[in-house]
Formats: sequence, C-alpha cells, structure tokens
Amino acid sequence: MSISQVVEGKAHILAYGGKISEISKKAAVFYNPRMKLNRDISIFTLSVFAEDIKRPITVADPLAATGVRGIRYALEVSGVSEILFSDLNPTAIRLIKKNIAKNKIKNAVVEQEDANVFLSGRKNKIDFIDIDPFGTPLPFLDSGARVVSISGMLAITATDTAPLSGTYPRASLRKYGAKPLRCDVQHELGIRILIANIARECAKYDKGFIPVLSLSDLHYFRVFGKVRKSKSAADASVKSIGYFIYCKECGYRGFAPDNCQKACPNCSAKTDYAGPLWTGKIFDAEFCSKVFQKSKAVEDKRLEKILGLIRDEALIDAPWYEIGFLSSVFHTNPPRIDEFVEKLQKAGFKASRTHFSPTGVRTDAGINEIRKLI
Ligand SMILES: C[S@@+](CC[C@H](N)C(=O)[O-])C[C@H]1O[C@@H](n2cnc3c(N)ncnc32)[C@H](O)[C@@H]1O
Ligand SMILES: [Zn+2]
Repeated sequence: MSISQVVEGKAHILAYGGKISEISKKAAVFYNPRMKLNRDISIFTLSVFAEDIKRPITVADPLAATGVRGIRYALEVSGVSEILFSDLNPTAIRLIKKNIAKNKIKNAVVEQEDANVFLSGRKNKIDFIDIDPFGTPLPFLDSGARVVSISGMLAITATDTAPLSGTYPRASLRKYGAKPLRCDVQHELGIRILIANIARECAKYDKGFIPVLSLSDLHYFRVFGKVRKSKSAADASVKSIGYFIYCKECGYRGFAPDNCQKACPNCSAKTDYAGPLWTGKIFDAEFCSKVFQKSKAVEDKRLEKILGLIRDEALIDAPWYEIGFLSSVFHTNPPRIDEFVEKLQKAGFKASRTHFSPTGVRTDAGINEIRKLI
C-alpha cells in the first residue's frame, strides 16, 4: 500500500492508503478517512472544553496511528499547551514524527509505548485523554481514569458495537459485565453500558464521570465526559448505574435501580432488561448546543445534521422509540416522523428526532399518551 498526502481539517498528513477501499487494520499504519466526522466532533468538543476551563491544557493521543487526531487538536484548538502521542507500532511512530514536523507542531511528545505504560508514566495529570483503539477501549480505561486531571475530560471510542448492542450478549457480559438488549434502542443501551464502565473506572479513583456528548455513528460509539475529582462526584456517578426495563408487549421503557421489576408497571406483562448501565443523562444540553455552533464553521452537511439532532435531543431527558416498533405495538400505520413530533409538541410534550435513528422519536410523553396520539 502506497503512502499518500491527505488533507484533513487544517492538517496535511502522510498516510498509507487514505482511500476508503484501502482501510485495513493490516495497513502499515492505520488511517480511516471515514472517521473524519469522529475527529471533527472531537475537535469541536475539545474547543468547547478548552473555552470552559480557561487554562492551557495537555492532551493525550495514546493510540495515535498517523497522529492525525493530535495534530488536528494542536492546529485547530486554541489553548492546547502540550500534545502527547504514543503508539506501539514503530512504523506509526516514524510517521507521527514526520507528520508533526510537516505540520510544524511545537510542544509534542512522541513515544513508542503501550498506551497504558505511556499514560501511567506521566508525572503530571492530563486534561484531555482521547482513547481511540481498535475494538473495545476497556483495556485503557483504568489508566485513562487514573491520569486524567481533577477537572479533565475523557473522550472514548468503542468499535465493538456488536457485543454492546446485543448481537453477542455473552461477550458483553464477559467484557463489560452487563446484559445488552436487542431492541429498537439497542445502540443507546450499548452506549449506556460503555458509560457505566467508564464511570466505574473513574469511581475507583474518587472521580465522577459526567457525560456531555454521546454519539452513535457508522460502526462506532463515542462518548465525551467531564471528570470531577471528589468522593461525592464519584458517589453520584455510581448511583446513576442501574437497569433499563423494557416491555415489548406495550412499549413501556424506563430505568430502575435494580432488575427485580419482573412485571411491566404499565401492562403487567413479563419485562426484559439491560444492564447494569448508565441511567443518567448522556448529553449536556448546553455543551451540545455549543458543539453544534462550532459545526457551522465547517462546510459539512452530514456533520451539521448529526450535531443538530444531538443538540435537539439533548434537551429531552427521556427515552426514544422507533416509529415502526410503536406502530406494530399499537397496530397502526406508521405516522410521518416530523408530523408525529409536531403532534407530540402541540399536545404539550417535549419531542424531537434522534441522531440514533432516522425513524426514531425522543419524547417525554409516556407510552399511554403516545398511544393516544399516534
Ligand atoms: C484505531 S487506530 C487509531 C486511529 C487514530 N486515533 C486516528 O484517529 O486515526 C489504533 C492504533 O492503536 C495502536 N495500538 C494498538 N494497541 C496499542 C497499545 N496497547 N498501545 C499503544 N498503541 C496501540 C495501533 O497500532 C493503531 O495505530
Ligand atoms: Zn407492558
């Protein structure tokens, strides 16, 4: 595979392949152009975070591959004082060094090291840690949680969406300690299982984890969350771990502190469940709105659309429903999604579409109210 010049954001990098047809874990150094949206959102998120904390910040890209992520952070975010890169692959390290020089990045540290060893070896805490592995981020969460600063941020990617979303439930139970559930909202449940695992790792170090933006796109999940060092913040995070109760008979769904609730509180049918998982908010509405504003500076319709949906759904702390599922439960024809959202809003409920599905509606209307309006 040949090496080529790629322009992404403000970065001009050398990458192997660089074409979608050439994406492979077996490439000399991994580069996936389809993850640009993930990186764009990460840059907006770091920008909002940097504006909020108002001090120079240290950023780590410990699974850096070409270094494109860290290089873009350095070039596109104000207030970044130091960028730390590492990768196990020696070819990646040579490429990162070339790319850093090419983009004239100052204040970069580059080491060929296992991400856990690299993070653990840091004397000073790191403000923003970006964990972007192949597959599961689980092996890196402990060191990320340990070395993130007392008011830092963790940015975590998981590409093992199949176990998290219920295709491989035994793998989810084994790795994440949680039962997933195949249903209309399985991807959100997968993200919630991931968040519960991040929060647990943080809690070990008396740190709370507060998700600010969650994303499900293509083959991956991405979670951004603020970290707060205090026993009470950690206790609050742990308290937010519970179960999702789901009734396929009447469509009821909700959270509960345990999974003992065998009968549906709405129709008494036997329920199913997922968890333990995060039952708190997965978005911070104000933060998501600021991130959306950043997307306006970039000409990218898909990016703006996803962040616009996230901004809207972030205002509603309630579950979402697949329209097709609702119409099968209620034996009705599926309504047009925009009309149904408007109908719910006119009836006084909060309602929006969701970035999780083009045919999903998030609303604080209960299932019986939905039944009357559909
Ligand atoms: C998905 S790629 C990273 C992509 C990159 N963050 C980006 O946005 O283009 C994962 C990288 O992690 C590296 N890697 C895998 N295991 C590692 C470990 N234990 N420590 C450090 N790097 C590792 C691989 O060599 C690969 O370059
Ligand atoms: Zn029910």
